Amino acid sequence: MVADMTESNGIAVNYRSSRNRREHAVSVEPAKISHNILFLQKFFRHGTRIASIWPSSRFMARASIRHADFSSACCVVELGAGTGPITSEIVKRLNGQTQFLALERDPDFVQVLTNRFPANPRVQILQADVGHLDAILNDNGIAPHGVDCFVSGLGTPSLPESVRIAMFSAVRKYLRPDGFFSNITEVPLYYLNFYKSIFEHVSFQFVALNMPPGGVYHCRGMR
Ligand SMILES: C[S@@+](CC[C@H](N)C(=O)[O-])C[C@H]1O[C@@H](n2cnc3c(N)ncnc32)[C@H](O)[C@@H]1O
Repeated sequence: MVADMTESNGIAVNYRSSRNRREHAVSVEPAKISHNILFLQKFFRHGTRIASIWPSSRFMARASIRHADFSSACCVVELGAGTGPITSEIVKRLNGQTQFLALERDPDFVQVLTNRFPANPRVQILQADVGHLDAILNDNGIAPHGVDCFVSGLGTPSLPESVRIAMFSAVRKYLRPDGFFSNITEVPLYYLNFYKSIFEHVSFQFVALNMPPGGVYHCRGMR
């Protein structure tokens, strides 16, 4: 029997046997259900501020980081982490050198995230509004052009204009010239021209296995 550590649905546990492994699988399920219910409640309370009725599937989460090279990334920033489906996929792939910041505005989601992803010098969960992205990155010691990728779970086109402008101004300042920006969506291709007005190279990946089906914009080269 080999001691092992796993992070599933955000709960890190030590276990030593397949029997314990089965118990673990059963015991984490209520946590995931409660995250999903919390998400649904937030959607009914805040609507477009949450921008989705259900957390991203793991297929959507994996699609959103498809172009991230975790073997060489120095800094990855997630915007609008929610209850952490994308965060989880990023954390699994981090190498010892990568600094990872996950931003989320909603305090209840931040609580879920800090429980799922315990304190770690390389992983920072920050309760913050992306309208303050420049100050947040600066305060956390990120140099201009120091971010390899921004992975956004935000309903970016629907953000208040002032927030969106401030956010993309910070993305322009901190994204490496060869870095990338991805953004999930639940309205496939609808915002293609929006992203093309901001980035030179934009492609869209359809993700059927998500609720509802959606996709990811993969963007490079800010105009
Ligand atoms: C569509 S949900 C996506 C959540 C998660 N990334 C996922 O894929 O399931 C968008 C998230 O962005 C957060 N959000 C919305 N506006 C924000 C803002 N201005 N600053 C930071 N987070 C914001 C919401 O609270 C919500 O958790």
